[in-house]
Amino acid sequence: MKITKAIIPAAGLGTRLLPATKAIPKEMLPIINVPAIQLIVEEAVKSGIKDILIVVSQAKNPIIDHFDYNYELQHRLIKKNKKELAIMVKKIGDIANIQFVRQKEPLGLGHAIKCGKIFCGNDPFAVILGDDVVKNPPNEKPALKQCIDAFIQTNSCVVGIQEIEKKMVSKYGIVLPKNKQNETEKIFALKGLIEKPPIAKATSNYAILGRYVLTSDIFKALEETKTDQSGEIQLTNALKILIKKGKKINACRFTGKRYDLGSKIGLVAATIDYALDDQEIKNDIIKLIKEKVNKFNK
Ligand code: G1P
Repeated sequence: MKITKAIIPAAGLGTRLLPATKAIPKEMLPIINVPAIQLIVEEAVKSGIKDILIVVSQAKNPIIDHFDYNYELQHRLIKKNKKELAIMVKKIGDIANIQFVRQKEPLGLGHAIKCGKIFCGNDPFAVILGDDVVKNPPNEKPALKQCIDAFIQTNSCVVGIQEIEKKMVSKYGIVLPKNKQNETEKIFALKGLIEKPPIAKATSNYAILGRYVLTSDIFKALEETKTDQSGEIQLTNALKILIKKGKKINACRFTGKRYDLGSKIGLVAATIDYALDDQEIKNDIIKLIKEKVNKFNK
């Protein structure tokens, strides 16, 4: 079995990064010179995904433009003898078969996934969230591929998780492992899930971090999912319905450094780490950081 379809929800408002996100989608904010959503799409493609549906909202047209050709820019770059840049710009338009759909109302992640019902049909599919960029070293499988392999190995739905600090649980979907003793394994079965619980109600320290591999019965579960207190339909609650119906759902503890790009600290951390991997600027960045640290230590 192969997973070749992915949904990338990108309709959120990006309130934590205002005013930057007033006119620019948060997914278009760059990690150095690459928009975050391009990193997400590249991870999907490296994981074997061929067809991508990006769920956008009204203010997200720059995302659509980014994955289109820009003939005028390509033409001007060639005229200026910058053929390599022209090729790079065109390649973004060829990266995958990307389609777009608009989520007309901000009714939550579950509602955004529902917009992909026709795109997915009966096929299993992956979901990657634009906020959660994961950096894997070149010799390691991308986080999504690790989750896809877990899906194929177990023949059941998978949520990608990592351990987080207890005080952070109220920001994430938190899983409840079926057997405590198996928690050290990379893949383990789940008994339940809870969306953004208060610390006292958190069933573990394992948070769902923006990677899912799902079967098409999630769409029926989403139809049955009630809106939460904020008026949103949560994907976590639809997964809970599937578990209640006896469906097996596993957690895959993926490896890689994850950045929350919806937050200031996540954006800065990702920028520093990607800069330290960029041979063109690496040495200058190290020098700059050293200078700053020395200044603070004085
Ligand atoms: C969403 C999900 C949550 C998940 C998180 C990961 O929340 O609802 O379960 O843990 O993404 O980033 P959001 O951050 O969109 O509110």
